[in-house]
Amino acid sequence: MNERVDKRPAIIGDMFDRIAPSYDMLNRVLSISVDRYWRKKTIQALGLDDGSLVLDIATGTGDLALGALRDTDCRVVGIDLSTGMLEQADRKARRYVDANRYFLINGDAVTLPFRDETFDRAMVAFGIRNVARLDRCLDEMYRIIKKGGIIAILELSVPSNRFFKKIYLTYFKYVLPVIGGIISGSTQAYRYLRDSVMDFLPPETLLTLLQERGFTVIDSHPFLMGISHLYTLKKDQ
Ligand SMILES: C[S@@+](CC[C@H](N)C(=O)[O-])C[C@H]1O[C@@H](n2cnc3c(N)ncnc32)[C@H](O)[C@@H]1O
Repeated sequence: MNERVDKRPAIIGDMFDRIAPSYDMLNRVLSISVDRYWRKKTIQALGLDDGSLVLDIATGTGDLALGALRDTDCRVVGIDLSTGMLEQADRKARRYVDANRYFLINGDAVTLPFRDETFDRAMVAFGIRNVARLDRCLDEMYRIIKKGGIIAILELSVPSNRFFKKIYLTYFKYVLPVIGGIISGSTQAYRYLRDSVMDFLPPETLLTLLQERGFTVIDSHPFLMGISHLYTLKKDQ
């Protein structure tokens, strides 16, 4: 799966360590802040309650987790490969939330260090396509979520409309790595972004993999002609 792009944890972790200080700014510039709306929708899809225990896989600099923590009185465990990204998350969290509501762990989404059925909810934004063993990561997500629990996956995708796809791919191939490279100083990272999106599974295939693991699809929702996609799933009782 995804053999063209090197997703070994050490390589991915190092790359995100390097771009961590400029990651948030780049996100805003490259998505013209529309990522904020997508994250909001992802959090809403989870139907969080006060007291929910939520796992944020590939938590990065913490934007999704902090959104959930602001909206409800839930608790979030964030896990990520990159210590650089986690440091940024920690720095932001200190400004906004109680230390005992957001816990950060350095680890791999392919081997989640939690007991079966620990979490009420799980979420992942723009992280799943980076994982080297996607099949194992999805198994792990199924394992750690409680029965009746919901997971929300937000991920970039390639638009299906042929005309829009052409414009998008041109921007993605030629413009984004240049802008990303200038702001972050790492052309490699933004080349990786391009390749990892273009190489990732189309929504139908990802949904099939999720259903094969036992998840029920609650909703599958494209944003902006399909440049990103929100998948909402449930582990049945
Ligand atoms: C594009 S960032 C997304 C961060 C955050 N979720 C957000 O919404 O901004 C991708 C994150 O996935 C993390 N990551 C990639 N592969 C991972 C893995 N196998 N296990 C845990 N984290 C991983 C990276 O370190 C990085 O922080």
